[in-house]
Amino acid sequence: MLSKVITIAQQKGGTGKTTLAVHLALAFIKYHNLKIAIIDTDPQGSLGQWFMIRSEKKLSNGHLTFKTASLWGAQYESKTLKKDHDIVIIDTPPKIESDARPSIEAADLVLIPMAASHVDFWATGAIVDIAKKANKKILIQINRANQRSKLISKTKDFIKSLDILSTKTIIGHRQIYAASMGEGKTAVEKQKKSVAIEEIKQLSEQILSEVK
Ligand SMILES: Nc1ncnc2c1ncn2[C@@H]1O[C@H](COP(=O)(O)OP(=O)(O)O)[C@@H](O)[C@H]1O
Ligand SMILES: [Mg+2]
Repeated sequence: MLSKVITIAQQKGGTGKTTLAVHLALAFIKYHNLKIAIIDTDPQGSLGQWFMIRSEKKLSNGHLTFKTASLWGAQYESKTLKKDHDIVIIDTPPKIESDARPSIEAADLVLIPMAASHVDFWATGAIVDIAKKANKKILIQINRANQRSKLISKTKDFIKSLDILSTKTIIGHRQIYAASMGEGKTAVEKQKKSVAIEEIKQLSEQILSEVK
C-alpha cells in the first residue's frame, strides 16, 4: 500500500475539484492498478450523487471506496482509509479558509485547480498560504484551459510568482469531463483514446511520482 493522501482544495467553486478527484481516482485504478478511496467533504454532495449513479448502474469497482466526512472528520477518516488504500483523495468544498486545516494537515500533496483567468489568480492565494504554512507539497492544476489562450502563459507567470509548481499537464475544457460524470462515469471509462484520456493519464503519472 502506498498510503498517501491527496487533498484537492481551492477557495473558488467551479474550478474542477470534484471533476479532478474522480478522474484521478479512476485513472489511478485503471492505469496503475491502485486501490483508491475518495472522501467527499462538500455538504453539497455532488460526489455522492455521482457515486450513487455508479452504484445503481453497478459500475462500482472493487478498487474504489467512497466516504463522506466533515472537513474536520476527513483527517481521522483519511488516517483510517490509508491503511488499506494506496491513495486517499479528499475533495473539499469552496470557501474553506477557516476550516481547511485538518484536510490540508492530512495531505501528502495539496492539488489546487484553477482556470487561466485573473479571477482565479485572486482566489488562489489564500489556499496556497494555508498549504505553505502547513509545509505541504503543493501543485497547481490549470484546468478548463483553452490551449490557445494568451492567459496560459500569464497563469504560469502567476504560479511562478507564488514560488510553487504547476503540473506538467494542462487540462483542457472538454465536454467529456462533464458529460461522463453525469452518467456516473469518468472520461477514462467512456473513451479508450482521446485527448482527455491522454491528459488524465499523464497527470496521474506525474501525481503518482510526486507522492511516491
Ligand atoms: N476540464 C473541464 N472541461 C469541461 N468542463 C469541466 C472541466 N472541469 C470541470 N468542468 C465542469 O465545471 C463545473 C465545475 O466543476 P467541479 O468539478 O464541480 O468544480 P468544483 O468541485 O471545484 O466546484 C462542472 O459542471 C464540471 O463538469
Ligand atoms: Mg466540488
